[in-house]
Parts: sequence; C-alpha cells; structure tokens
Amino acid sequence: MSASPKQRILGLREQIDYHNYRYYSLDDPEITDSAYDRLIRDLEELEHKYPQYQSPQSPTQNVGGAFSKTFSEVAHAIPMRSLGNAFNEEEIFAFDRRVRELLEENNDIEYIAEPKLDGLAVSLRYEDGWLVQAATRGDGKTGENITQNMRMVLGSSTQLRGNSIPEVFEVRGEVFMSRNDFARLNDKQKTRGKKLFVNPRNAAAGSLRQLDPAVTASRPLKIFCYALGEVRGVSVPDTHLESLEMIGAFGLPITDLIQPVSGVKGCLDYHRTILERRSDLPFDIDGVVYKVSRMDWQQQLGHTARAPRWAIAHKFPAQEEMTILESIDIQVGRTGAITPVARLKPVFVGGVTVSNATLHNQEEIKRLDVRVGDTVIVRRAGDVIPEIVSVVVSSRPEGALEFEFPVTCPECDSAIVNEGDGVIARCSGGLFCEAQKKQSIKHFASRKAMDIEGLGDKLVDQLVTDKKISDVADLFSLSLEDISGLDRMADKSAGNLSNAIESSKSTTLARFLYSLGIPLVGETTAENLADNLGSLKSIMSATTEMLQTIPDVGPIVAQSLRTFFEQNHNVEVVNRLIDSGIHWPAIEASAPVQENMFTGKTVVLTGALSISRAEAKLILQSSGAKVTGSVSAKTDYVIAGEDAGSKAEKAEKLGVSILDENQFMENVGNL
Ligand code: IVH
Repeated sequence: MSASPKQRILGLREQIDYHNYRYYSLDDPEITDSAYDRLIRDLEELEHKYPQYQSPQSPTQNVGGAFSKTFSEVAHAIPMRSLGNAFNEEEIFAFDRRVRELLEENNDIEYIAEPKLDGLAVSLRYEDGWLVQAATRGDGKTGENITQNMRMVLGSSTQLRGNSIPEVFEVRGEVFMSRNDFARLNDKQKTRGKKLFVNPRNAAAGSLRQLDPAVTASRPLKIFCYALGEVRGVSVPDTHLESLEMIGAFGLPITDLIQPVSGVKGCLDYHRTILERRSDLPFDIDGVVYKVSRMDWQQQLGHTARAPRWAIAHKFPAQEEMTILESIDIQVGRTGAITPVARLKPVFVGGVTVSNATLHNQEEIKRLDVRVGDTVIVRRAGDVIPEIVSVVVSSRPEGALEFEFPVTCPECDSAIVNEGDGVIARCSGGLFCEAQKKQSIKHFASRKAMDIEGLGDKLVDQLVTDKKISDVADLFSLSLEDISGLDRMADKSAGNLSNAIESSKSTTLARFLYSLGIPLVGETTAENLADNLGSLKSIMSATTEMLQTIPDVGPIVAQSLRTFFEQNHNVEVVNRLIDSGIHWPAIEASAPVQENMFTGKTVVLTGALSISRAEAKLILQSSGAKVTGSVSAKTDYVIAGEDAGSKAEKAEKLGVSILDENQFMENVGNL
C-alpha cells in the first residue's frame, strides 16, 4: 500500500531536516542542490494540496540553517530571509505578474538583476564605521557569531571608507571561493593527506566556519555584498541600485555583473547573457536574482515566512546531479595510458545527457571509494569532461565490492606498469597493443590532425581488427576494394572515403606534426615548432637545447620529441608517410612585421579582453611578438583583461610589466 499524504509529508520533512543538517551544520552535503530543491518542491506541493497538514515547523516555512555548538549565537536585527526559486521562464512571468498585481502597476517594473553566488550568506554589522559583528544566516532569525573569522576575510574592509559614516550599517553578502582558489586549496589538501572539498561552496563554508580564525585567514575567501540590513544615522536610498552603490562607496565589494533591467524581457535577456558567461566567470553561480529596485515597492510587497515577494532566484540548469554507477570500464589511450571510465545511468546534467564520466586513475577510485552500484554525484560544468565528485555512501547497495584495478591490459594482456609517482598506469604493449594502435590512428585521422573525413572510430576499429592496417602509414595503401569490403560500407561512401584519404595528403607541416601523436605535442606546440623550425627535417634533427628556444617548449616536451624521433620504427613510419605523397607548402616568410613596442618581445595574454584571444594573438604576432601560454622570467609583457587571475599575480611577483587592454591597444600602433 502506498504511503498516505500525511506520511509522505512527514517523510519528506524528515529527509529535508537531515539534509539541512548535513549542509548547514556539517558543511558536508550528501545530495546535490537540485535533488534538495526537488524534495522542497515535492513537499510544497503536498502541503499546498493538503493544507490541514501544514505546520510552522515545516522546512518550507523556515530558512534551512542549523547550528553547530562551536559558535555563540547572535540575533539578527532584521531577519535574513531566503529567496523563492524559479526554474523556467513561465515561473518568472508568474512572479512578475504577481508583483504587478500587488502593486497595481501596468508598466514594466525596474528590476536589479544580479548573479546568484553559490557561497554562504553572512551579515556584517558596522558601528561608527567599524565592523562589530559578523554572523551566518543560521535559521534567519539567529545566526552564528563569526566576527573574528570575517575580519580575516575582509582585511581592510573591517573599516568603512569615506565620509558621512552611518551610526549603524548592516550589510548582507555572500562569502565564496573562486574556482581557481578552490582547485589550489584542494591540491594543498591532497599533498597534506587531508580531506578534499567537493566543490567551492563546500570549501568556502568549511573555511569560514572554523573555530580557529587563523585557519580561515589561510583560506582564500572573498565576499560580494548584495543588500542592506539595519541602517541608522543615514537615510536608506530610494532604490536597491543606489543601496548597492552606497555599499560600494563605503569600500565593500559588490560584483560588476549587477545590472538594472526592465520587465520580464530584461530579466530573461540578463539570464541568457549570464548563463552564456557562466563557465568563464571565476566563481560558481547557480542562477541569477531579480529584485524590485524601488524600496517603497519592496516595503509594499513585503515577504512570506521564508522569502521576500519582491525578489526571486532564477536558477540555472544544475551542474551536479545524482545517478547510478553501472560499471567501470578500462580505456587504453594512444600512448597506453590506462583510464578508468564510469558508465552511468544516463542523467541530464549541465544541459546535456551524460552517460560516461572520467575516473582519472586508480588513486581517484580509491579516494572516492566508488563501487559499481553506488549512487554518485556527477558534475558537468561548461565543456569540461563530466566527473564524479562524490558517492552517496548511505545509498550503497549491500555487498558492493571495491573495484579491483587490472594488472594486465584488457586489450592485449601486456603488463600494466605504473609510472612516476604511481598515478599513471600504462599498458606496456606499445604498438603491439591493438587499443593503442587504434587510438593513434583515430588521432591521426581526426579533424585537427589530418582531417580524414568519414574515417570515424568504428571504421578504424574494423580496419585494425580485420588486420587491413596496423599503423597510420598503412591508410595510404588501402585499396578501394579494401574499403568497400568493410561492413555496412556502400560504394558511394567507400569512394568518398578513398577520396578523403587522398586529399588529406595535402596538409600543413603543423598538422602533420600534430597528427603523429608525439606525447605532449599539442596543436599549439606543433604550430610553434613548424613556424620556428620551418621544415620536418630541422624538427627531426633539432637538439633538445635548440627545441627549448621555441615558445611553449620546455625540457620535458623537448625530450619527448627527441625520444620520439630516436625510435627507428617512428622514423620508418614518417618516411613511409612522406613516400605515400603527404606534402605541405613550404613555410612562407611571414608578412612584413608592423614594428611596435611588442616586436621581438615575449607576451602572455590573460583574462577577458573585449576582442577575442585569437584576435589579440594575431595582432601581437603580426607585430613580431612571441605569444606564450605561461608567465616566466622570460616574459616581457602580460596583457591582463578582466578577471585576470594567477598569471597576472605571477607577473607581479616576477616584476613583469602588466598592461591593461587600453594600454595594449594604444601601443600596438606605436613604437
Ligand atoms: S538576496 C531577502 N542576492 O541565495 C533577500 N541572495 O537562496 C536575501 N544569494 O540566502 C537574499 N546571491 O545566500 C540575494 N545576489 C544575491 C545572492 C543571494 C546569492 C544567496 C543568499 C541567500 C540565498 C537564497
């Protein structure tokens, strides 16, 4: 018999309370935010349908926070509320309609649109310009006293700047960690054998709610402020936008993504724009927030127990979802690297359906303690390969066994050897291993390499399995009969493929070099080698010293090139390829250089510029500059766009000149 509505309501409340505790008190959530949002939605719907079971204790009527015993409690002068959520456009239309109905307003409402930062809410209280108290949101009425810790985050902002300092100035904001800082912190945690944080929000929460403020001080936390709390001794501005400007004028950080927008259309345009920029932003956001700007209207609209009626969060598609790990496969890469791959029950995450995720290596499987049958949290952010971030251990099926990493290659049975610090496992079969053969041929034919159209993965698998080819050079001696004899190959497609193989022979030196699949030689390195050494012969015979004079080529890449060209079988394959007729235009002397201050200099681009990276690079190259990817003592200039991160920092440390976009643009024309 299925559970009664009352039982379902009670069950959901219990689950939500448990997850609130894990999230707010332990900083150790077990389920994704989206799974949590769904529980709340389900409960809201049931309570709406069966109002007789509504209760003021329900988590739908309260702000989620709970308390740990470690901090003293502080009462908020003005409650810290949460926000209502909208997951689609219809819900934004409904929100705006309700706002206009309540205000009896037919015209478009001016909203202030802001990013919804994924961190944790804090309230900062300044008296006569000095920070006197900082608190977490807690249950909205009472929070935890984190004053000492916030002093570490705020630095000089523990004092308000400027004149006309109000008697009391309370500001609300979100403490967060940037993605780069999060990655660096986790690296550090790893080397010290400490627990890794699952995401930047979790790292921010764990870093702020520390008993020892010195620990907080050592963690790279930031804050953006987004609202006022209690204010005394100065009049509160008429609009939310002016409040934000006031906060900024007192020297507290506000984001530059804040934008006034008009009506629903303005809101939705903003949502679209920020969603497109999501993966380029240096920090995680889980949506945007729209707030009615006029303060008198905010007053008039008021709030429910949980959230204001004058604001709403418009969520982005979740980047983390839960699913089941169905199996773990072992993949053998082009150079024999063994990668375990998680096969997942398909799940919609980050805007696409995901059924595979990388597990990186043996260490990672151990660290996650992930087992077949487990419920796992999958993350897909931007175009990054989906990853498993954690396991919901409480949902583990009985008898699930630890994964046994193979000791021999699943494709060729050769021994698997561990390299370096034991993290990289490699099949020792070399080109004897069919998997390695297939991967190297797939790479050779791929779009950015020789670009043989129509030679997909399945065909390569078949050609190798049927022993029609065993290396890349064999492709060029395939006959039309060989091709048309393949499974499911129509005559027309066979002809097309044969033509594609033939026309791929006309290529560029950079592509050819890249297609050889030399470890660590990517497209850019291949281009730099071709541009600087000019011929295959020079590249094959260059010493490691000579190779290292080329941008992006360090000692390891130089050695990799030497090792590759010292193997007779590689040279033999290269010769057979050339004999089959592969050719490229001789590298032409480049167009006359436009001399300016960048001529002959080494330049690094970082951060967001108003022109594309590629365009900026082209301008610099035509000025005779070398554009490289990383900052070193050899760098002459760093051109830093917006949100420039670690590269600009490194440049500063090394004393390398940093130019902003304007300075760059002004100088490309001049000497
Ligand atoms: S305004 C009374 N603005 O989202 C309105 N909140 O889901 C209070 N958040 O507790 C919130 N960015 O921790 C507001 N630009 C923003 C925000 C924001 C992130 C967080 C905040 C809040 C939670 C509600």
